[in-house]
Amino acid sequence: MKYTPLTEPLHDYICTTFSAENDFLRQLKRESDAAGFPAIHIAPEQVALLQVLLRAVGAKRVLEIGALAGYSAIAMARALPDGARLLTLERNPAHAEFVRRKVQESALENIIEVRVGDAKQLLRTVDEAPFDIVFIDADKAGYSAYLDLALPLLRVGGIICADNTLAWGNIADTGTSDATVQALQRFNHAMSAHPQLQSCLIPIAEGMTLGVKLS
Ligand SMILES: C[S@@+](CC[C@H](N)C(=O)[O-])C[C@H]1O[C@@H](n2cnc3c(N)ncnc32)[C@H](O)[C@@H]1O
Repeated sequence: MKYTPLTEPLHDYICTTFSAENDFLRQLKRESDAAGFPAIHIAPEQVALLQVLLRAVGAKRVLEIGALAGYSAIAMARALPDGARLLTLERNPAHAEFVRRKVQESALENIIEVRVGDAKQLLRTVDEAPFDIVFIDADKAGYSAYLDLALPLLRVGGIICADNTLAWGNIADTGTSDATVQALQRFNHAMSAHPQLQSCLIPIAEGMTLGVKLS
């Protein structure tokens, strides 16, 4: 075996040692639950990964597709320098309103902007490019379209990353008839085969595919 299976104790160890989740983010998740939003925020260990990526590329401009309650946006903003901007696109107005409130509470309104609408439309009108990091975490059916629309907005040397790319353990099922799994398979293939990207898939939480833009 060429890998270490992620047991519960190992997962606990990683989360305890490297989690970048803080009290504000834990409270945000409680309020998100109380608001009836789905509990589909990124995992605490992914917060650490995103913050490392942001700092590694010296990110000053970040684009997120899919905000939900603002957990990942606020977590990412905490790793950005003064003067940085994070634009997050969110289709659901109730989610966007919630995020705006939490952004104000965390005094990050100078960094985070929430734009409401279908990301496939909004991406065509974004004029804040180039971005240093693009994080895709919205509807899985849209992932390949988001790659096509967002890659031109990413600077060379920037990173595009997407969540849930192990498709809840089903990504290797080539005979699947599940449209969501098929969409993620198409997306991973596009990321791995793209001539402008050097990519990998990290088996963290539900899986995260990353690609650095080469040209
Ligand atoms: C998985 S959640 C995002 C979680 C968030 N990134 C986090 O970790 O805190 C997906 C979000 O994408 C939004 N969404 C789904 N389809 C969308 C679309 N076409 N355009 C914009 N947002 C969309 C949903 O309303 C939902 O809030």
